[in-house]
Amino acid sequence: MQIDVVNGGKTVSKVIGGPVSGLPDLLLAYPEVFLIYDEAVSSAIPELPSLKGSVAVDVSEEAKSMDTVLLLCRSMMEAGLSREAIVLAVGGGITTDMAGFAASIFKRGIRYATVPTTLLAMVDAAIGGKTGVNFDSYKNMLGAIRQPEFTYISSEFLRTLPERDFRSGAAELLKTFLIDNTSSNYEKAVEVLTNPSPETLQDLVFAAAAVKASIVGRDPYEKGERVKLNLGHTFAHAIEHEARLRGDDITHGEAVAMGIILSARLSNPALASRLEEDFRRAGLRTDCPYPLDALRPAMFFDKKAEGGKVRFVLLRDIGDVVTEFLSPDEI
Ligand SMILES: NC(=O)c1ccc[n+]([C@@H]2O[C@H](COP(=O)([O-])OP(=O)(O)OC[C@H]3O[C@@H](n4cnc5c(N)ncnc54)[C@H](O)[C@@H]3O)[C@@H](O)[C@H]2O)c1
Ligand SMILES: [Zn+2]
Repeated sequence: MQIDVVNGGKTVSKVIGGPVSGLPDLLLAYPEVFLIYDEAVSSAIPELPSLKGSVAVDVSEEAKSMDTVLLLCRSMMEAGLSREAIVLAVGGGITTDMAGFAASIFKRGIRYATVPTTLLAMVDAAIGGKTGVNFDSYKNMLGAIRQPEFTYISSEFLRTLPERDFRSGAAELLKTFLIDNTSSNYEKAVEVLTNPSPETLQDLVFAAAAVKASIVGRDPYEKGERVKLNLGHTFAHAIEHEARLRGDDITHGEAVAMGIILSARLSNPALASRLEEDFRRAGLRTDCPYPLDALRPAMFFDKKAEGGKVRFVLLRDIGDVVTEFLSPDEI
């Protein structure tokens, strides 16, 4: 399974699906490989050819920082990497975001590739070239857009992923198929998620990765179509903000599932009820614990507010997405 990420007629990246054991062969084409990995998956990583060095990253939003990226750069320097080297990032979104950023600035930019090991990274974070770290209390404030050489997707990694992280990724998987008007994969995904296994997930995860890859190919710098991928996220970011203020524990994917339902209520209430039922069957939490009034400040006073209005991605139907600027009263 392979699809090219094409921009302006040029292949800028590739998404490849296969077993973990297929990874070493892919790397034979590279003279120097530097591995940056999440300790949680170290035992699942096969022996790699041309390995010049490796380093494990500390996986937490606090450690997703410039300090850690500088430590990664130091390890790369000590390993004596040349400009021909490739950084291989094996882990979830925190690992792939930081390794991709380190590769983007090391010697003014060397190649990198991602091997996502969480569902969220397989369908979202490890594809599309957005890399970066948190700064002060702002998420992903520093970073670069630089496409990976390839993203290698193997659902085998999901065997050890904790249930809550899995469900968090499932929300982004469903989101991807909700904005896609070229397939009926949304219904298939709901079915598979009721009783998931790495075997039943592989094709579906690859299909979702392919949807993101094709959108990113057409719009790498989020000037237009890529915005669709933010379905549910205006609400989700406000829910995450409110949860932080109250000391509640809500994952990004949980907030995204709630956010998709809230935004569907704005555009198509009947669809919202159907999605709510589907999401519950797929094991997702759908009820936002906060009233809309509590979410409004975070949505309307952040950096994206333009003329008092904020851009919402709205679902008219499955596969039929529009963006609209709405005021606090309109929601
Ligand atoms: N670059 C992008 O376009 C983009 C898009 C979405 C999210 N992100 C970023 O991704 C990050 C979240 O990524 P994530 O949800 O993948 O989580 P993560 O990297 O934080 O990993 C979640 C947890 O799962 C563990 N883990 C990872 N793979 C495992 C496996 N196979 N088995 C057992 N444990 C495993 C990790 O050690 C960690 O404890 C956020 O920082 C977010 O900003 C980036
Ligand atoms: Zn998201």
